[in-house]
Amino acid sequence: MASYRFLLLSSLGSLPLALAHPGLNIVRAANTTSVGPSVASNATVPATATAPANVTAPPVVTYSTTQAHTPFTGVPTTTGALTAGPVGPGIAPQGINPTATTYPSDGQLHNPQPGPYIPAGGVGTNGETPVYNAKSDFDYESLALALYQEYIELDLFHDGLARFSAEDFTAAGLTAEDRFLIEFMADQEVGHATMLTNILGAEAPRQCNYIYPYTTVSEFLDFCQKLTRFGEAGVYGFLSHLDSREAATLLTLSITTEARQQMIFRQFEGLFPMPVWFEVGVPQSWAWTLLAPYISSCPENQTRLAWQNFPALSILNQPNPVRINGAEAWRETISNGTNALNSTAVPSSQTCLNSDTVGVDCSPAITHNRTNPLSWPGREVYLSWEAPGQPVGPNNSYVTSTNAGAPKYVAWVTQLNVTYSELTLNGSRAGSTIQPSVETYAGDPAINGTVFIAITDTDLYVTPFNITMLNPHVVAGPALYQSG
Ligand SMILES: *[C@@H]1O[C@H](CO)[C@@H](O)[C@H](O)[C@H]1NC(C)=O
Ligand SMILES: *[C@@H]1O[C@H](CO)[C@@H](O)[C@H](O)[C@H]1NC(C)=O
Ligand SMILES: *[C@@H]1O[C@H](CO)[C@@H](O)[C@H](O)[C@H]1NC(C)=O
Ligand SMILES: *[C@@H]1O[C@H](CO)[C@@H](O)[C@H](O)[C@H]1NC(C)=O
Ligand SMILES: *[C@@H]1O[C@H](CO)[C@@H](O)[C@H](O)[C@H]1NC(C)=O
Ligand SMILES: *[C@@H]1O[C@H](CO)[C@@H](O)[C@H](O)[C@H]1NC(C)=O
Ligand SMILES: *[C@@H]1O[C@H](CO)[C@@H](O)[C@H](O)[C@H]1NC(C)=O
Ligand SMILES: *[C@@H]1O[C@H](CO)[C@@H](O)[C@H](O)[C@H]1NC(C)=O
Ligand SMILES: *[C@@H]1O[C@H](CO)[C@@H](O)[C@H](O)[C@H]1NC(C)=O
Ligand SMILES: *[C@@H]1O[C@H](CO)[C@@H](O)[C@H](O)[C@H]1NC(C)=O
Ligand SMILES: *[C@@H]1O[C@H](CO)[C@@H](O)[C@H](O)[C@H]1NC(C)=O
Ligand SMILES: *[C@@H]1O[C@H](CO)[C@@H](O)[C@H](O)[C@H]1NC(C)=O
Repeated sequence: MASYRFLLLSSLGSLPLALAHPGLNIVRAANTTSVGPSVASNATVPATATAPANVTAPPVVTYSTTQAHTPFTGVPTTTGALTAGPVGPGIAPQGINPTATTYPSDGQLHNPQPGPYIPAGGVGTNGETPVYNAKSDFDYESLALALYQEYIELDLFHDGLARFSAEDFTAAGLTAEDRFLIEFMADQEVGHATMLTNILGAEAPRQCNYIYPYTTVSEFLDFCQKLTRFGEAGVYGFLSHLDSREAATLLTLSITTEARQQMIFRQFEGLFPMPVWFEVGVPQSWAWTLLAPYISSCPENQTRLAWQNFPALSILNQPNPVRINGAEAWRETISNGTNALNSTAVPSSQTCLNSDTVGVDCSPAITHNRTNPLSWPGREVYLSWEAPGQPVGPNNSYVTSTNAGAPKYVAWVTQLNVTYSELTLNGSRAGSTIQPSVETYAGDPAINGTVFIAITDTDLYVTPFNITMLNPHVVAGPALYQSG
């Protein structure tokens, strides 16, 4: 039934070519000289290029579509995140760099132009040949995390198609054409994994084995919608911090595709496709915390990651999008962390899937209005979280941890803003809070769509470019809150 496409990693092309052109000819400008033998496909060569026609396209990574999807039962051969000593005390705030505020920003040019139509400045604009590689540990670890994400998406989209029958999809309102779109999205992941592997080189992480919590098409769609949300947000969090502007450029061109996937899964789920003005970014350790529980095992010698796994956070009254009144849900999730919906917990009289009433109908569509909102400012949200020290992730070889003090706040990380609400504790690892009312700009409620929440020990002021400074204060989470 399933097809394999094999390729030995060692045959990924000569290293200099891979480094200079990991995305191959998609990055070649029309008038530049090609490096090495041309391997362009017709579709990616600009009209003015002189590449010969009909040459073979570059090969893709090795992957399988018949993974086992069984839990790991063995004993890890190694434990904990990758480290390199000596490990410092953390990053202290430095204040504003004086040169950050010297540009007049008055609409005039302030420096001689290097050439006609070329304003002075920019990074990577001086004519140096771009090299599409990792340039620091930060780059490698961030890109390797993104590669772990691409591989799970590749497996996940195939798994949904394999696990559920055409009849199951039809009953969920999805046609053969919709299933082909899911298959196409899986193929996109092959390309993304190949590009990142070419950037990282021989030790790039490989495809693992995965385990998923869903048992119905609705649960699969919601799980995909949430997994692509943290895949996308996890990349936005580090993209502009990469030392390698070249790698950032290619990654931007893949993550914009991922953003489209996330929106399509929202539409498959009958949700309003984009109820926000801005998409959020989160730190790498947040994405890794959400991703790791679904990786059961990785191959021998798999390259490990340096990121933190925080204790899992559960939303007890996570809004359930397949309920007519989604906010009424109580313990209707199939997982913590992602807090994906449980569709079998919803009585048939309460499901919105089979309705054709506008405002209730939540079958697949370009867009739907919901008469009953999934959440609103002032809603009380009930939470519980795990103690640190739990084994998690590939081969149970990572361990959850926190460096924070006592739990005091819930951080709501949405769009452009990090907002805090006070946590009312109920026991040592449970509590409740009130969904805050906050707008990015007038007219855009910040909390809508699939947002990130975390338990923190303080209400540290952070903004999208320094949100990672919050990590030492995270007690548990993040969890994905389905606010709209
Ligand atoms: C484009 O290539 C031609 C032929 O090599 C060269 O003469 C010309 O200067 C190039 N133009 C630019 C803008 O690089
Ligand atoms: C390119 O491939 C097409 C289809 O296989 C073939 O008809 C054509 O002759 C090929 N062109 C060249 C230049 O080899
Ligand atoms: C490449 O271009 C040639 C000539 O136009 C065409 O015959 C061939 O089908 C194209 N191949 C692909 C893969 O698009
Ligand atoms: C993880 O477990 C699998 C299955 O038991 C094993 O084949 C693999 O070598 C292990 N990976 C590591 C990195 O220990
Ligand atoms: C793993 O690494 C060890 C030591 O470098 C090597 O002997 C072994 O062949 C590697 N195994 C695989 C599957 O690559
Ligand atoms: C989903 O809900 C059903 C019905 O309440 C329950 O039997 C099942 O265990 C739940 N699934 C998970 C993964 O919690
Ligand atoms: C959808 O919701 C918007 C905003 O609440 C409202 O203005 C519009 O009339 C609604 N449209 C329909 C068809 O329900
Ligand atoms: C979320 O966005 C949808 C679509 O615009 C809107 O109908 C809903 O009221 C919003 N929810 C909140 C809490 O603002
Ligand atoms: C999180 O999920 C794990 C595995 O399903 C479960 O054992 C644990 O109780 C859950 N934690 C919370 C806080 O719900
Ligand atoms: C506190 O937790 C207990 C046990 O889970 C629960 O029965 C109770 O309703 C909770 N109280 C509040 C105020 O949330
Ligand atoms: C939300 O973020 C925007 C953009 O940075 C900022 O102007 C606004 O003040 C923030 N709102 C709050 C309540 O922090
Ligand atoms: C994060 O950046 C904002 C400016 O955007 C600054 O006011 C704040 O102090 C910074 N937070 C930390 C923890 O450095």
